[in-house]
Amino acid sequence: MILLGVNIDHCATLRQARYREAPASAAGAIEPDPVEFALQSELAGADGITVHLREDRRHIQESDVRRLRAQVRTRLNLEMACTPAMIAFALELKPEFVCLVPEGRQEVTTEGGLDVVKNRERVRECVDAMNAAGIRTSLFIDPDPEQIDLSAELRAPFVELHTGAYAHACFTPERAIEFERLRAGSERAHAAGLTVNAGHGINYENIAEVRTLPHLYELNIGHSIVSRALFTGVQESVREMKRLMNLG
Ligand code: PXP
Repeated sequence: MILLGVNIDHCATLRQARYREAPASAAGAIEPDPVEFALQSELAGADGITVHLREDRRHIQESDVRRLRAQVRTRLNLEMACTPAMIAFALELKPEFVCLVPEGRQEVTTEGGLDVVKNRERVRECVDAMNAAGIRTSLFIDPDPEQIDLSAELRAPFVELHTGAYAHACFTPERAIEFERLRAGSERAHAAGLTVNAGHGINYENIAEVRTLPHLYELNIGHSIVSRALFTGVQESVREMKRLMNLG
């Protein structure tokens, strides 16, 4: 069975659109609450909860992550940039998983995978610190042989293959090319001893193909689940994605 990590960042995006400046004393009135989204997702069968604590704090806040740590019953996956401040935060918080992602201030959402080759020493430092603390690290990378091989060499237990280029190529002839890159990347990562996750841009349509990638352990899915939840409610949107991921 492929596991589902529900990324709740976009629930926080909606909250921040209205309540960015709200005082802490107004907490009870502030909606939608991403922690509630997480708990409802767990009730519907989510295997883990994923959040990206960005340096610019544009959606998820530090207080959200601390509340999630206290209340999530499955597994907490903290996506973060590879910086000393975030490493210190993760070591204190102790999520089950950390996913290292690139962070550009101007991007609307994460674009492109982490360049492990270019940031080799910083990534090594972070993976070593997490391994020593018993936190499992995943590197969010493009399905590029060089990135995959180095991820294994740096002793990261997981990679998360970036499915964004594939998702963006949805209605173009490049879709098949991008899918083949993901398939070959997954085979290579598995052969190198890495556990393979995937994420970004996965939706209720492309999941039919994504789920056929070999060796998948977990998919991290956010935008499509949060969007559908507006119409069907959180539990139904999570349940339906999990069903589509594991058909047959
Ligand atoms: N995985 C990673 C590493 C991400 O940064 C994100 C969010 O951009 C996702 C998965 C989820 O992507 P989406 O919201 O497009 O499902």
